[in-house]
Amino acid sequence: MKALIIGAGGQIGSELAGALEAAGHEAWMVDHQPLEKCAGRGALEASFAQYPGLAARWLPALDVLQADRLAALIADLRPDTVFHLAALLSATGEANPDLCWRVNVDGLRTTLEAMTRYRRPDGADPVLVCPSSIAAYGPVTGRPDVLERGPEEGPLEPTTMYGVTKVVAERLGAWYSHQLKPTAGRGRVDTRLLRFPGLLSAVPPGGGSSDYANELFFAGARGDQAVQIFVRPDTRIPFMHMDDALRSLVELAEAPRARLTRTTYNVGACYPTAEEIAEAVRRRLDHPFEVRYVPDHRQAFVDSWPRRLEDGAARSDWGWSHRLDLEGMTDRLLHDCRASLAR
Ligand code: SER
Repeated sequence: MKALIIGAGGQIGSELAGALEAAGHEAWMVDHQPLEKCAGRGALEASFAQYPGLAARWLPALDVLQADRLAALIADLRPDTVFHLAALLSATGEANPDLCWRVNVDGLRTTLEAMTRYRRPDGADPVLVCPSSIAAYGPVTGRPDVLERGPEEGPLEPTTMYGVTKVVAERLGAWYSHQLKPTAGRGRVDTRLLRFPGLLSAVPPGGGSSDYANELFFAGARGDQAVQIFVRPDTRIPFMHMDDALRSLVELAEAPRARLTRTTYNVGACYPTAEEIAEAVRRRLDHPFEVRYVPDHRQAFVDSWPRRLEDGAARSDWGWSHRLDLEGMTDRLLHDCRASLAR
């Protein structure tokens, strides 16, 4: 596939380019920041060294709010698949709700609109893949099971602006996939969303409320003897290693449309409490690792998210299966965070 990654310098995008190349696809990349300022610069440069020709497909910086430039880029490149990853996360989004809406919703709609203007070389609808999130859920009166299970069919009553934008993204995806009435010069976009758990990798995330887990792995890798995190020890939300997340993005993009029964899929992996993550890190260190739990305003956001994420549809429709649980993930993350800190 000829893929365009929008938001290619961030936590997911900076590792997706290499994952696409490894799977035999051609990745093009754009971010709102120049390469030297991107959080994922180290991961990108490692992929550039591994895959000849990839560095030349890093495009000049472009903000998704520059709608005309973004539409022109898509019209020019005509990617058959777009991975739309440009977004504000929950904590930053709640502090800047207007910007969160503009980046997460308006940026996505600009991309979708531009993609209605062309077909794939084989005549099929172009494919857009976009993350949704556990933050699309929220507490529902009389339905405690929603936060216990994370049911695929919802209901979705998010409490953060970030969660609101993810529900809108899901509904936009369904509309562009099925409801848009094609006309001459304007066709549908085969839109596929994944409701992700908190994602863990050696690329620091920016402004999420699941970041407390990433902070534990980085602190362990740095050799810190004490760390303070912003949630209670019994806080439990779904988590996933980035390698599984990248594989889910690529596998969903590759899945034949005829096998898909929905536009949004849940993907789950493991469900540790903050204390269980801290203990998994501590067991692998040869020095004390004291964790202080000092909840702040982000505690309420994670408390509004489900503790599990049912993902039977992804497993049966396109063969989704996670590979890394908490133990495997901890081994990998400590190793990779140490390597990233050494760079
Ligand atoms: N990781 C995200 C956040 O914390 C949740 O999707 O905002």
